[in-house]
Amino acid sequence: MAQLWGGRFTKETDQSVYAFNASIGFDRRLIREDIEGSLAHADMLGKQGILTREERDAITDGLKGILRDVENGSLTVDDGYEDVHSFVEAVLTERIHETGKKLHTGRSRNDQVALDMKLYTRRQIVLTARLLEDLLWTILHTMEENLETWMPGFTHLQKAQPVTLAHHYGAYFEMFRRDRQRMTDLYRRMNYCPLGAGALAGTTYPLDREYVAEKLGFAGPTQNSMDSVSDRDYLIEFVSALSILMMHLSRFSEEIILWNSNEYQFVEMDDGYSTGSSIMPQKKNPDIAELVRGKTGRVYGALTSLLVTMKGLPLAYNKDLQEDKEVSFDAFDTAQDCLRLFTGMLRTLQFRKDRMAQSALNGFSNATDAADYLVGKGVPFRDAHEIVGRLVLYCIDQNTTIDQLPLEQMQRISDRFEQDIYDALSLKTCVEKRLTTGGPGPGAMKQALQAYRAWLEDAGREVFPGVEEDGRK
Ligand code: ARG
Repeated sequence: MAQLWGGRFTKETDQSVYAFNASIGFDRRLIREDIEGSLAHADMLGKQGILTREERDAITDGLKGILRDVENGSLTVDDGYEDVHSFVEAVLTERIHETGKKLHTGRSRNDQVALDMKLYTRRQIVLTARLLEDLLWTILHTMEENLETWMPGFTHLQKAQPVTLAHHYGAYFEMFRRDRQRMTDLYRRMNYCPLGAGALAGTTYPLDREYVAEKLGFAGPTQNSMDSVSDRDYLIEFVSALSILMMHLSRFSEEIILWNSNEYQFVEMDDGYSTGSSIMPQKKNPDIAELVRGKTGRVYGALTSLLVTMKGLPLAYNKDLQEDKEVSFDAFDTAQDCLRLFTGMLRTLQFRKDRMAQSALNGFSNATDAADYLVGKGVPFRDAHEIVGRLVLYCIDQNTTIDQLPLEQMQRISDRFEQDIYDALSLKTCVEKRLTTGGPGPGAMKQALQAYRAWLEDAGREVFPGVEEDGRK
């Protein structure tokens, strides 16, 4: 297959060397971005008088034709080419002859690939942001419906104090909200156009880099040509944000797996999101949650791989940089698939509210409240702690819960207990009394919900310059 660099060589590249060097097997997914970048480049070359108007028009029509044919399936990317850039240029030259060879004026594949990858990554960031919003809406709806769904809150995986499902989900809302904010932050930082950096030192042609940058929706051109062709830290930043996001998904998955276990039975998974066992007929397995937890490792792997690939590279472009693609693409796909599936699973999850409340009572999660009750009756907190400790021990011995214990038995441990203890121990009271900002009490929760809703509506309206609304075209 014709190469872009044959002139200096007297010998054909060995087939295995050619295959080892080639990237078309995976960079073919950049074809749309490659053409988009070339269209902007050709337009600018025309504007600057580097190409004649006729040449520019022929190139523009030719490139648009290639994109159309690839999209409608009449042209397939040929694996025989070294990379997607060579493929497009070869087809263009085949179609418009000599003029096609002028497209690459003032450009190198180094700035071309840097641009393609940025254009592609921008879309992936927006797509991820929108998927995160879908997930956040799902969480928010469940919160709004479960302000009075009591459950135990845990520390050390031991029942600690009662909370509500809304409050527990609220913790995840916060995590995924930060993940969504990271998309905005890193987008702003990376949205500068590397085209015009050439191989590393700019070019001798009077390119208008500002024009190209603006045409492609960038905030401006990058400021150092050597950095432009060598920089992949925006990828590292994005994959690191994806790793954090996967960590959050994985924690949530782990909880759902626990809640779905025979021991907890807090949730009922929709049949559509679980699978059975080939041998054990009683099984209903939380496969989606387990897979999300499992796939987290792949995204961490991509992050490590990118960091290691970059750490020893002298300036400027080195072929090692070609290794940025497969791992990044896999991380993008994995995180997005996980977001889609996880959101669907959450949407169809049923809660067994009776089991959740019972579990909060059985685990003495209201013991702190019993101590606070005694403090209210004038007992110093340390003594109250001690008294309730003995009360819990007594209950364990009697195989009962504090709120089930007859008053005279409580009074044998402390005469400060009175009839109003039962109300003080109800899950409703325990939660309602927690009124601090950020706590599970209804006042604090309602405020949080209002703020979340307003914030999420704003996030959905955010415009990412250069990318269509949802990241798809
Ligand atoms: N396939 C290459 C990459 O992904 C494109 C750039 C090639 N540049 C070069 N000087 N060989 O990085």
